[in-house]
Amino acid sequence: MNILQAEKISFKYSSGREILSNIDFSMNNEEIVGLYGDSGSGKSTFCKILTGFIKNYDGRVLMNNKQHEKGYNPIQLIYQHPEKVMNPRWNMERILKESWMPSNEILDQFGIKKEWYKRYPSELSGGELQRFSILRSLNPNTRFIIADEITTMLDAVTQVQIWDSLLTIARQNKIGVLVVSHDHKLLERITDRTVFLGDLNK
Ligand SMILES: Nc1ncnc2c1ncn2[C@@H]1O[C@H](COP(=O)(O)OP(=O)(O)O)[C@@H](O)[C@H]1O
Ligand SMILES: [Mg+2]
Repeated sequence: MNILQAEKISFKYSSGREILSNIDFSMNNEEIVGLYGDSGSGKSTFCKILTGFIKNYDGRVLMNNKQHEKGYNPIQLIYQHPEKVMNPRWNMERILKESWMPSNEILDQFGIKKEWYKRYPSELSGGELQRFSILRSLNPNTRFIIADEITTMLDAVTQVQIWDSLLTIARQNKIGVLVVSHDHKLLERITDRTVFLGDLNK
């Protein structure tokens, strides 16, 4: 069992008030956990702390009682806007394979067509791009996925398909998923338990 743990996390951006205050949180890799909160309450900030994109916070983020140091990060962040974190001059094959080489079976499971490989990010729809970014984060060394509003911009049908594919693989491979959303109904439907960010602040 792998445990992701945040201990006494506090943080403020240089300009402003404290956004996260003494937060304790933990989950294991066999759970799908929801993180719910009002807009602007610090959900994305917390995601960046969990995945090491923000470093100047107080407290500790641990996986199996250790802080991440070098090499592949087993705690992967997926964003709401995948196009913002993809190199627009790389084709999809290069973008995907920079992380790993999924089998044809997994490509099928995600509804990814090989003919899309030669396209650039600007030549795919939002849903298609998000499938690539999820797949990229499913590198075999990944233990936790932090999914920050990843289907908020997509239509209802695409939303269902994407969660179905992602959660099936996560359960099979025992990858813990933190599903961050302001959509309470979505969280009720797909997670094992949900925490409210406001309740974690002390
Ligand atoms: N880079 C930044 N610099 C300063 N303030 C920021 C930055 N990013 C976000 N904030 C502020 O921090 C607060 C929390 O933002 P965020 O974590 O994005 O909330 P959420 O994801 O819950 O909507 C907001 O008030 C936002 O304006
Ligand atoms: Mg956010």
